[in-house]
Amino acid sequence: MEDILNELETRREKARIGGGQKRIDTQHSKGKLTARERIDLLVDEGSFEEWDMFVEQEPNELTAQVDPIPGDGVITGWGTINGRVVFVFSQDFTVFGGSLSEAHAKKICKVMDKAISVGAPIIGLNDSGGARIQEGVSSLAGYAEVFQRNVDASGVVPQISAIMGPCAGGAVYSPAMTDFIFMVRDTSYMFVTGPDVVKTVTHEEVSHEELGGATTHNTKSGVADGAFDNDIDTLEQLRRFFDFLPMCNREKPPVVETTDPIDRAEPSLDSLVPRDSMKPYDIKELIIKVVDEGDFFELQPEYAGNIVIGFGRMEGRTIGFVANQPLVLAGCLDIDSAKKGARFVRFCDCFNIPLITFVDVPGFLPGTSQEFGGIIKNGAKLLFAYAEATVPKVTVITRKAYGGAYDVMSSKHIRGDLNYAWPTAEIAVMGPKGAVEIIYREDKDDIDKIEARTDEYRKRFANPFVAAQKGFIDDVIFPRNTRRRLCRALRLLENKEVNNIWKKHDNIPL
Ligand code: HXC
Repeated sequence: MEDILNELETRREKARIGGGQKRIDTQHSKGKLTARERIDLLVDEGSFEEWDMFVEQEPNELTAQVDPIPGDGVITGWGTINGRVVFVFSQDFTVFGGSLSEAHAKKICKVMDKAISVGAPIIGLNDSGGARIQEGVSSLAGYAEVFQRNVDASGVVPQISAIMGPCAGGAVYSPAMTDFIFMVRDTSYMFVTGPDVVKTVTHEEVSHEELGGATTHNTKSGVADGAFDNDIDTLEQLRRFFDFLPMCNREKPPVVETTDPIDRAEPSLDSLVPRDSMKPYDIKELIIKVVDEGDFFELQPEYAGNIVIGFGRMEGRTIGFVANQPLVLAGCLDIDSAKKGARFVRFCDCFNIPLITFVDVPGFLPGTSQEFGGIIKNGAKLLFAYAEATVPKVTVITRKAYGGAYDVMSSKHIRGDLNYAWPTAEIAVMGPKGAVEIIYREDKDDIDKIEARTDEYRKRFANPFVAAQKGFIDDVIFPRNTRRRLCRALRLLENKEVNNIWKKHDNIPL
């Protein structure tokens, strides 16, 4: 009997060592952890249950010469993060460069299927040389099986990808279809075609890092949602992030205990908005001052900074925050910020996460680059996302809410549940100066007249009370009481029920 038990241990040992100590050392020398070390840091100690440890690749003409390695380059299973179930796959670069074979893909698909059926999130730790070259089309088939499951899981369970090494070619499309992508600085990259192909086709010389490193995808392309310094930092932040998420679309977001009082007043907010309406201020200060314990997890902080998105909690419950940022492009909406905001709003709506929107928006960014780039369709994404969302939606206009952007930013007219304004709000078709220059064009050379008219317009229209008189704003509130008003609103809306008209699915302007 003992020899049978020993054999199990021997087999497990062989699987655990993956591609061998030499390759593990190489992995460490690049500043990377192994697939198993990563799982250890990601899930609660002792909670991980590994599946398919003994799976091996199917032999064919090319792979017959290579000794199979049990586990076949990916570690799969489930564990818990702060007690809540999560399914995980972690690609093992020490085994055939973490490349994806048919068997490797089947292992990933097994955990994805189970995650969908039990209703628990999936985290993929990606570190792979792509399709297992020796497997040919079987490997491509494996990728497509994973892609199909990414789509099946979308809107059912949260899917998160951490890119912790190479992720190239068609392989990028699995993370691309997950809800969030986090990257490790300096050691991870993502691109559809690598620097060599780029050089051959377009004659551009570009490094791996420049083409698809964490900085590129977090500042230029907007593909990634966050970048962290190393594997340990990334996995710790993933744990923190996970705590904000619900398990699946059938559940509400988790509630975390908090000692932060609901009626905590913040007198400093009364002077957050400068008297001069052309002066910027940091909208993140408002978010941090209203959320529980100042804990805000910002997503895409370095991309399209004119809109701020992320998760915080109110009375312990996860809330999605969307806010125009006056510090960047005066808070204007443009192509990138509309796409960034829209995808986030849709994620929150999929997973029953209420939305708080802070508005200070002078309008859509004008210019040929915006028009040629399709601001019409891209701006419509954010409008569409807000209008279709049925989760509780609470809006606070802090200053400008001009033109079409007023409508877009979770206004009453697209089913905003509770719409508040600060006394500093200016809700109008456009800013006073622009309005006067159009209405009183004949006086355009008379500076005194224009100034007087502008002043008059500001007094009459650039305030919250015209909208409040019409009931488009439910109340004008003191900035210092914003947290209390938001918490009460969210309590009220907790069991809100609104259903969209039945349809197969909508047709958001893509
Ligand atoms: C099989 C692979 C592999 C692959 C790497 N290895 N990629 N084995 N299939 N795709 C093996 C290597 O042979 C090596 O084996 C080990 O993994 C480590 O690789 P190194 O090259 O030594 O590592 P490094 O120098 O860090 O370079 C990493 C790399 C490079 C940049 C990823 O390995 C590379 O360019 N690999 C090929 C990438 C590629 O072209 N993949 C196919 C893309 S097309 P030993 O035994 O020496 O340790 C694709 C299509 C997907 O993926 C389509 C989906 C629809």
